[in-house]
Amino acid sequence: MRVLITGARGQVGHELMKSAPDEVTAIGLGSDELDITNAEWVNDVVLSLTPDLIINAAAYTAVDKAESEPDLAYAVNRNGVAHLGGVADHLSVPLLHISTDYVFSGEGSKPYSESDATSPTGVYGSSKLAGERALMQTCARYMILRTSWVFGLHGKNFVKTMIRLGRERNELSIVDDQIGCPTSASGIAQALWRLVAEYKSTGKLHWGLYHLSGTPACSWYDFSEEIFQQAQQIGLLEKKPIIHRVTTQEFPTTAKRPAWSVLDSSLLYEKHKIPSIDWRVELRNVLSTLFFQCAE
Ligand SMILES: NC(=O)c1ccc[n+]([C@@H]2O[C@H](COP(=O)([O-])OP(=O)(O)OC[C@H]3O[C@@H](n4cnc5c(N)ncnc54)[C@H](OP(=O)(O)O)[C@@H]3O)[C@@H](O)[C@H]2O)c1
Repeated sequence: MRVLITGARGQVGHELMKSAPDEVTAIGLGSDELDITNAEWVNDVVLSLTPDLIINAAAYTAVDKAESEPDLAYAVNRNGVAHLGGVADHLSVPLLHISTDYVFSGEGSKPYSESDATSPTGVYGSSKLAGERALMQTCARYMILRTSWVFGLHGKNFVKTMIRLGRERNELSIVDDQIGCPTSASGIAQALWRLVAEYKSTGKLHWGLYHLSGTPACSWYDFSEEIFQQAQQIGLLEKKPIIHRVTTQEFPTTAKRPAWSVLDSSLLYEKHKIPSIDWRVELRNVLSTLFFQCAE
């Protein structure tokens, strides 16, 4: 089975390539090999590769920068998805796509389910929501997995930033009034490969929109506490910095961040038996690998 992975050098794309099962031929393309904003390029590449399934891990993910680059954010997150959806539908192959908690306003107080109303507050979230809609309109056999607070070994993320800052500084201020679900890139990759395996053996999936995020929910402050505690335990950091809790108001960003970003992932379990991932376990794997990389 041939699986085409776009955005193969991003956090999730990288993990997908690393963990591709033996029975699958994973063809990973970076943005220089396939720019999904270019419809002709997408058609030429996909029609010549004739994959059996496509996973779109490509996205414009610079949340703050998107506020000043809306055209580019929409070109990638909406038009790029429409191009892939169109060619996937033409070939009658499924497209598995990743979306985000930022499609919600963040004003909730119970975990968001797939049927809850969306209301993004910034360009990134709006462009990702437009991408979801574009996929629904262009492709019959799609799965959208909305996820949140992605971290992993590869690329830029909160965990790696905390480790760097923990080495550089004795004290840090971390936001404590935004609640969400850290999710490991490797957990997302595992879930996607399970869906591919199910499709390979049954020829179908329960197409549609799903949530997939780590558990339990926490604040950025709680997340940083766990990162520093584990990092110190395994010897990645000599000592934990002092962490001060701050509010979102005290830590302004260009794009508004959702205060409540908790996704209910139970539908994916119900339909596909894919469980939520305990991010603390995944964090230990990431930190241990970072430790060994430092020791080499
Ligand atoms: N990161 C998070 O916290 C988070 C949270 C919720 C949802 N998500 C979603 O999860 C998915 C994966 O995110 P991630 O963290 O793996 O993102 P990432 O590390 O930023 O990777 C995204 C990849 O997309 C590629 N890309 C950008 N523009 C492209 C284009 N025009 N054509 C082809 N490729 C292009 C980038 O390639 P270049 O580097 O070469 O430009 C990059 O490798 C995305 O859909 C994202 O919206 C992420």
